[in-house]
Amino acid sequence: MCGIVGYIGHRKAYPIIIKGLTRLEYRGYDSAGLALYDNHQIEISKTKGKVSDLEAKAAHLATSTSHLGMGHTRWATHGVPNDLNSHPHVSNSGNLVLIHNGIIENYDAIKTELVKRGYTFQSDTDTEVLVNLIEEVKKKENVKLGKAVQLALNEVVGAYAIVVFDLQKPDEVVVAKLGSPLAIGIGDQEFFIASDASPFIEYTTDALYLEDHEMAILKLGRPVKLRKIKDDAPATPNILELQLSLDQIEKGGYDHFMLKEIYEQPKAIQDTYRGRLRPEEGLVKMAGIDAHLERFLKAKRIVIVACGTSWHAGLVAEYIFEDLARIPVEVEYASEFRYRNPIIGPEDIVIAISQSGETADTLAAIKLAKEKGAFVFGVCNVAGSSIARATDAGAYTHAGPEIGVASTKAFTTQITVLSLMALKLAKEKGVLSTIDFHTYLNALAQIPAQVALALQADASIKEIAQVYKDAPNCLYLGRGFNFPVALEGALKLKEISYIHAEGYPAAEMKHGPIALIDDQMPVVVIATKRGHYEKVVSNIQEIKSRSGKIIAIVSKGDVTVRDLADHVIEVPETLDWLSPLVTTLPLQLLSYHMAVLRNCNVDQPRNLAKSVTVE
Ligand code: G6P
Repeated sequence: MCGIVGYIGHRKAYPIIIKGLTRLEYRGYDSAGLALYDNHQIEISKTKGKVSDLEAKAAHLATSTSHLGMGHTRWATHGVPNDLNSHPHVSNSGNLVLIHNGIIENYDAIKTELVKRGYTFQSDTDTEVLVNLIEEVKKKENVKLGKAVQLALNEVVGAYAIVVFDLQKPDEVVVAKLGSPLAIGIGDQEFFIASDASPFIEYTTDALYLEDHEMAILKLGRPVKLRKIKDDAPATPNILELQLSLDQIEKGGYDHFMLKEIYEQPKAIQDTYRGRLRPEEGLVKMAGIDAHLERFLKAKRIVIVACGTSWHAGLVAEYIFEDLARIPVEVEYASEFRYRNPIIGPEDIVIAISQSGETADTLAAIKLAKEKGAFVFGVCNVAGSSIARATDAGAYTHAGPEIGVASTKAFTTQITVLSLMALKLAKEKGVLSTIDFHTYLNALAQIPAQVALALQADASIKEIAQVYKDAPNCLYLGRGFNFPVALEGALKLKEISYIHAEGYPAAEMKHGPIALIDDQMPVVVIATKRGHYEKVVSNIQEIKSRSGKIIAIVSKGDVTVRDLADHVIEVPETLDWLSPLVTTLPLQLLSYHMAVLRNCNVDQPRNLAKSVTVE
């Protein structure tokens, strides 16, 4: 993971780097560091902790007039988070400075060789090995930095996005990418480098996303020089105009990004519908499906691969696709799929779901599925991301940037896209009556307003959170379409409040978790009308008989559960298969308030990162 920022140009580098790192902190926040070229010297400041700690430690550099620098916010892979292991790393000669996002898998073998040649190492990182390997190649081959980077990277196994410069050549920065993202912002006589475009959005909208196996030499006064790492062949830069705006990546008056993103859901879902959901014309339009309709209609099976919250959206989709479109679906953790020799072939469609579009395991699963001949469809939020580019076709979720580490609007917009897909395919396959199709279209159209209504329970959810904020454990139960929502609710609570939580299908409770229930155990039960309502009410009775504390998510106006539960949270009634889009909201808010009341860092929970670009 990790976030990287670099700058070369006519502005002061320090504020660009600090601000950029703050925006990239979602990618990792266990340590941070920066390097500035100043008056023929390199000033470095590194610290364990967050970017704010770095800012305090590097205060003496705040007035630096340096126009060349780089910064890094780390999510540790090799070596514990401490000052020494923080990036940037400097080569033995003191000339080369490098930051790195990714993992150099063969670093140990390279390090052994370098030690034999007299190199010494101060940190436990693979990155310090890489910067010294570049130095060794540069010296041995007597080549310029760009060539040395290219040759060195051909000896490396692993993943990287790197930024490197040479103290002796301060008008040039070299960057390279394999597996981890790297964007270059192109201004007038200046270049910005970052893991995503957020650090430079206020300076330029011209950006270039490096492809895997590409490197670029950024020299002041010259156009970007793009090369293939393997054979040093020139590549053509594809400069895009960014659609991102500054207010999309700021908190906009909310205390946390997570809360802002929870509240953005009505609009995010509406944006996801735009141009696709057309109830008045009686159709769902999705270009990525229309272009490959035959393939979808002939598919024997859909296999969904994803990680984390996106995997939960995949589980919801399994229920919806099988129910509506009658296509068999399997949902796999991408990390398992990629290593278990799955049976998959040209008659299968693989749907890869990813908010960031950069998750390493999901990318590897896509690669494997393609090698086996499957058609791969991506459901991503980040336009132009690695997964969006690696898939054969796809549909964006259009949720806007999601910055809080705990995924919220990405989840509901993923379900939105997948619902539209299922409905469209059901119609095209002729397995849905016209009347049902129109009813469903209209029900979908109401969802943004219903999500907005569900948010009105916020204040009462906060009161419930106050009651249970010190609970050590929490159980989440749901059935059918809402079983994956129970998993997602439990994940949200674990992630940001560090309360141990489990999600279960409500009826499975009898096969184990019921043993945990006593008067100290809060149990969140999704008990909306339609679906398996009566069955869930029986499950609630079972919890009540064992003195469990029941927090029930119910349809508006419900009276039966109100009599049984300790607390009820009402959501608007919708169709059973669309209910996850409204039942998810109270669970997001519950975990948010619990975490805030426990003084947890909601947007940057410990040990987590937003974008997991290592396996
Ligand atoms: C990380 C994030 C989760 C996310 C998962 C998958 O673990 O913290 O919120 O669900 O990665 O990420 P993706 O970007 O592929 O959806």
